[in-house]
Amino acid sequence: MTEIHVIRKENRHLYEHLFDLYHRLRYDIYVRQRRWMALDRPDGREIDQFDTDDAVYLLALEGTRIVGGMRAIPTTCPTLLSEIFPQLNLRSPIHRPDVYELSRILVVPERRGEQAGPGLATMLQAAIIEYGLSVGLTGFTIVLETWWLPRFEEQGWRAKPLGLPMDIDGMSTVAVYVSCDEETWDDMVQRKGIAGPMLHWLNLSSVPRVDISLSCRPTLQVF
Ligand code: COA
Repeated sequence: MTEIHVIRKENRHLYEHLFDLYHRLRYDIYVRQRRWMALDRPDGREIDQFDTDDAVYLLALEGTRIVGGMRAIPTTCPTLLSEIFPQLNLRSPIHRPDVYELSRILVVPERRGEQAGPGLATMLQAAIIEYGLSVGLTGFTIVLETWWLPRFEEQGWRAKPLGLPMDIDGMSTVAVYVSCDEETWDDMVQRKGIAGPMLHWLNLSSVPRVDISLSCRPTLQVF
């Protein structure tokens, strides 16, 4: 059974044993498979300047096996958009505590293209909306390849471009802003058959959050 776990600095010690595997998986996927050679490192781990204590990770786990993941970085910190690809943002720089940047969205090859149910990649996208609603985020920025855009549309994500698409290393790349709101959650739940909240929040009882009820309507409740 696949579980999607929230990992933040407060509970990272519980997952420390997985992080080496996680960075090796990222290396396999981004450097070996996708050939994003700018991310190459001699130690066979893909890790960058944005993997800091402030990063939040969602990891999809089957026991101790990582089958998918996503990273969210506060836009109050340096981000891919602010530091590496500022040319993709024609608007004012976004540095807001309620907006995070998403990156490193991945699923292991054996779990891609799932036809039964929503599919793991979609589950991860729903999970990040659940996370955002739970902790009071209002949106996400993402630097992505433009092939994501029709897919977002189909999934119920409303992506607003922050600038024009540009060719970066042969990839048509654009920066977008995606709202994190109840409407997006409801839309995803209905379109993709998401059963309801799915996140595992081990040892995060000190983090104030809103309960995303099964009716998909958050009710204010601090755990
Ligand atoms: N280039 C162009 N289109 C792509 C693509 C790529 N590199 N990767 C996925 N797609 C599109 C295609 O339309 C594909 O449909 P197709 O199989 O008919 O070509 C569709 O997305 C579904 O892709 P698939 O990989 O089967 O689906 P998924 O929804 O289970 O997983 C990802 C999507 C992106 C999570 C998965 O492909 C992955 O982990 N890729 C490697 C990591 C990555 O590149 N992440 C994005 C940047 S952070």
